[in-house]
Amino acid sequence: MKQWYDKIEAADSVEKLEEIRIAVFGKKGVLAAEFAKMKSAPNEEKAQIAKELNIHKGKMTELFNQRKIVLATEALEAAMKAEKIDVSLFSPTAERGALHPVMQTMDRIVDYFVSMNFTVNTGPIVEDDFHNFEALNLPKYHPARDMQDTFYFKDEMLLRTHTSPVQIRTMLHSKPPIRMIAPGAVFRRDYDLTHTPMFHQVEGLVVDEEGKVSFANLKFILEDFLKYMFGDVDVRFRPSFFPFTEPSAEVDISCIFCKGEGCRVCSKTGWLEVLGCGIVDPNVFEAVGYKDVSGYAFGLGVERFAMLIQHIGDLRSLFEGDVRLLEQFQ
Ligand code: DAH
Repeated sequence: MKQWYDKIEAADSVEKLEEIRIAVFGKKGVLAAEFAKMKSAPNEEKAQIAKELNIHKGKMTELFNQRKIVLATEALEAAMKAEKIDVSLFSPTAERGALHPVMQTMDRIVDYFVSMNFTVNTGPIVEDDFHNFEALNLPKYHPARDMQDTFYFKDEMLLRTHTSPVQIRTMLHSKPPIRMIAPGAVFRRDYDLTHTPMFHQVEGLVVDEEGKVSFANLKFILEDFLKYMFGDVDVRFRPSFFPFTEPSAEVDISCIFCKGEGCRVCSKTGWLEVLGCGIVDPNVFEAVGYKDVSGYAFGLGVERFAMLIQHIGDLRSLFEGDVRLLEQFQ
């Protein structure tokens, strides 16, 4: 019997101990065999043998339970050690996401105007004819509507073709003074090297009492903004036409690639067109019921800024979702 005490003590794994348990306490185990033998012993010795066997059984059970706790604890500790995860370990394959270059550019634009005390306003992407065209001095049969290739739904609803309708929504639900920008996605039926059906614009609008907002204010803020975005560039205002502003201008910067010398990107002109702007047309103020106010507005395409700043040649590559392109802008 003594040898089994030693075996229990020497068991070095939970599995080994289980084998011993079956060999000692099992139906066909040593104890069962000893008790069976007892039956053939002389009657007067039976009580003594049973007593001794029960003492052995009790001691071995105790020994077994102790060993079991030790081995189970060891096994648990080993498992915890093996499964431990070192969260501070460097992984050479871990991949990091990054903001899309268009959103990086958008953030930079928004940062500038927020620093100049503009509020950031939004409007719906599915617009109606009134906000997208009518109130912006683009009546039904106005030829300027041709400039915008619109996606139409039923009932005069459409995908907004520019962020200018946010001007109208802002003026309709608030009073001057207004100093806002409206960043967001816009949609046009167009697809080539420089046009995609969805792109992003940032609109700007400043309105205050009559005489308080001038073209000089507009020039100052846009020049300052363009130097913030492109560095030390020359800025020029060219007379142009937009239905919602009068007078209107398009704004160019000196070509950032050839420094105004003339190259492929600027079509040898030395200038790059970057935004449209003007003094808010009185018809727009009339459409929203504003009286005795003056204001300026501007609008720009974010992808165009991103392409110039990040030197991207094909606008469509921004929307293909190719990680190899995106990885270059982390
Ligand atoms: N909405 C014009 C466009 O999509 C951009 C624009 C030009 C907005 C002049 C303006 C502005 O507010 O004054 O092409």
